Amino acid sequence: LPGPDVTALTRAGVAGRLPRPGHETDKYRRGVVGIAAGSDQYTGAAVLAVGGALRAGAGMVRYAGPGRPAAQVRARWPEAVITELDEPSIDGVGRVQAWVVGPGLGTGRWARELVARVLASDVPVLVDADGLNLVAKGVALLRRTGPVLITPHAGELARLTGAGRDEIEAGRLAHVRAAAAELGVTVLLKGSTTVVAEEGSPVRVNGTGTPWLAAGGTGDVLSGIAGSLLAQGLSGYDAGSCGAYLHGLAARIAACGAPLTAAEVAEAVPAAIRALSGES
Ligand code: APR
Ligand code: MG
Repeated sequence: LPGPDVTALTRAGVAGRLPRPGHETDKYRRGVVGIAAGSDQYTGAAVLAVGGALRAGAGMVRYAGPGRPAAQVRARWPEAVITELDEPSIDGVGRVQAWVVGPGLGTGRWARELVARVLASDVPVLVDADGLNLVAKGVALLRRTGPVLITPHAGELARLTGAGRDEIEAGRLAHVRAAAAELGVTVLLKGSTTVVAEEGSPVRVNGTGTPWLAAGGTGDVLSGIAGSLLAQGLSGYDAGSCGAYLHGLAARIAACGAPLTAAEVAEAVPAAIRALSGES
């Protein structure tokens, strides 16, 4: 299958792209990522996305969301800086170098306004889950100055492009490539193999995943990981593909031939980075 338009992501390729802190670094230079996720109904997505972002090495993680998920993120992750939102605005959050928006957000008016505000910022944005469902319902992706990385599963991509879900599953490479060209953004299509497309570049195929990843919330962890890499300065293409590689490797390490939970995938990301760099 690999050819000029398709390339497999290698261990050395990922290791060479992962940021490592220099001696003189500080937390801001290591990257500040903002997570706009979760709702009073879906609190877990916020906790998982923040966990993925922290474990993937950003210097700081800022969380912005409603009271219930904000309280749970605060309880689980004292490292995160929390802004409890009364209004769907990110004005009070402070500077971030990349945003993750969408997991568990819901698709009502409040969520729609928050997604629009995040997309109106000038930093790279990763859009996932309900963020994508809102884009499918008309929130504009483009006309922004910063790059966009979207991380749909086949159902979410089907809602975005109008193609059938089964049609996408049957032709993942062609569909991810077409979506990147049509939408003008970097597209990471999740599934049993994850593929990442950007116009003008070969589609990157990630082979590190495991079927044990087919468990609720693992996609939210991936959003946090890839968003963390975006904030650390990687392009959408590199953040998406290296993020998928680390996520899959972390899952293999955590699962080790047995069931795993999404939180355990996040916990195993440092071990995956260690395995890549050859340190122990
Ligand atoms: N083999 C390898 N990896 C897999 C497999 C498989 N058979 N099945 C799923 N995965 C991986 C995907 O590649 C992806 O990284 O597991 C992850 C699942 O992510 P999502 O599909 O986003 O699932 P989830 O995290 O539960 O989503 C939470 O958000 O997208 C919405 O509708 C979704 O309500 C759900 C919520
Ligand atoms: Mg999901």
